[in-house]
Amino acid sequence: MEEGPMKLSIHKGSPQDDPPLNLRTVVHAEELSNAYDAYRAIDELSHLRDEPGIQFVGGEGSLDAPVMIIGEAPGEVENEQGRPFVGPSGVLLRKQLHRIGLTEYEVFLTNVVKYRPPGNRTPLYFEVELSRACLDEEIRLIQPDLVILAGRTPLSLIHHNGSITEHQGKPIMFEERLWLPIFHPSAALRDDTTMEAFRASFDLIGALISG
Ligand code: URA
Repeated sequence: MEEGPMKLSIHKGSPQDDPPLNLRTVVHAEELSNAYDAYRAIDELSHLRDEPGIQFVGGEGSLDAPVMIIGEAPGEVENEQGRPFVGPSGVLLRKQLHRIGLTEYEVFLTNVVKYRPPGNRTPLYFEVELSRACLDEEIRLIQPDLVILAGRTPLSLIHHNGSITEHQGKPIMFEERLWLPIFHPSAALRDDTTMEAFRASFDLIGALISG
């Protein structure tokens, strides 16, 4: 993997308690269009792609982002709007990002699987594996210093069968990059203790990016 200068401390926004949540995409990653076209052409994902009403949801954010956040797969609202993290989980996630002073210029949001699985089920192992090349391309292009893995599915990219409860909040150096597993925001929305840990992991992200 290419190595460049660390970007983390270069551009940090000011913390806001009550951020606007209607952020428009800074960059709809056109530079990624080849990778996204290749993803759309994967035969073995046609069972997801060909479901009625399902659309491809690519990543969005800044291509210079020092921080990349990888979720599991689009939810209902994401599928409707064709944008990652715009439903209830995304609102929580974006609020936390703003709380620690990260603006849309400093993050790139994406998902492991780019189609909403039927019934919102967890992506299957082979779907994750087929999605790796596209994610690798997103990472190669953006070169984030810190990759946040939101939930068990993205954690499985670097830790097969890893427990998110065990690994969340613990930064891992892997392939010369810093990765941080955190609870998925939808889990935080369901449970107060998980919410506390979720918020704490953003405090940690704040410390990592200013450090
Ligand atoms: N959950 C995810 O994992 N990703 C999204 O984009 C929305 C909800």
